[in-house]
Amino acid sequence: MGNVGESRSDRIDAGEGGTDRAIAASWDAEYRSGRYIGEPPLPFVDDIVAAARAHGLAPGCGLYVGCGNGRNYLPLVASGLDLVGLDLSSVAIAQLTHRASERTDRLVCGNISALPAGARYPIVIAIQVLQHGDEVTSHRGVQAAKELVAPGGLLCVRVNAVGSEVDYEHDVEERGDDGRCTIRYRAGPKRGLAVHFFSAPELRGLLQDGFEPVLPLRRSVTHRATPQQGSWSQWEGIWRREPARPR
Ligand SMILES: C[S@@+](CC[C@H](N)C(=O)[O-])C[C@H]1O[C@@H](n2cnc3c(N)ncnc32)[C@H](O)[C@@H]1O
Repeated sequence: MGNVGESRSDRIDAGEGGTDRAIAASWDAEYRSGRYIGEPPLPFVDDIVAAARAHGLAPGCGLYVGCGNGRNYLPLVASGLDLVGLDLSSVAIAQLTHRASERTDRLVCGNISALPAGARYPIVIAIQVLQHGDEVTSHRGVQAAKELVAPGGLLCVRVNAVGSEVDYEHDVEERGDDGRCTIRYRAGPKRGLAVHFFSAPELRGLLQDGFEPVLPLRRSVTHRATPQQGSWSQWEGIWRREPARPR
């Protein structure tokens, strides 16, 4: 693993059209208004810890892409995972730094390009982050996350699933035969942003080469609290990268 202290960065490499800046601005506003504060960790955290222990990776180090302000990051660290926390939102990183000042040198504001070149991590966690952008962008994100996993390491993913009921006005910009789609919000906190919803075959296909499932893909459904209506679906899965072949 590279030394994250060397690459600590407040730089955000804006994608085409300044997309990363727009995503960061949207999430900055969410965190300023209290998003996730006081929320318990997702149950998926227990699966990640169990898989890490089963594969001899906990205690140990790793990377959490899109760590947010800590609802999952902090319990994962408490379980013995020494995670670099990476997030585009400077407000998320500031709040997380405030909650866990001893982790300051492991927290990085930026996208994957802020990590040391060639860095590989025994465990890579991406929870509700790889869905930002259109299909090409979100597929690139999955590929980039795969490349960050060391041989024999684990990739833990939770992403938007088809079947989610979107509560804000939006346009559907892309739709595949298997149901996958990309929407662009016309209203709400993500107004103007594109978000991708993966189908199960799409995600399995992306994770096929060089990886084997450890926790097979499953759907996690969250019902909105009344007076809101409808439900949100996420895919959750854990994959192991093939170990390096002996020479
Ligand atoms: C839905 S929130 C989830 C936060 C956290 N994983 C959790 O479950 O509490 C998505 C987070 O991903 C971050 N994010 C979006 N795109 C990113 C990227 N390309 N690189 C790093 N962080 C990103 C956002 O700033 C936001 O904090």
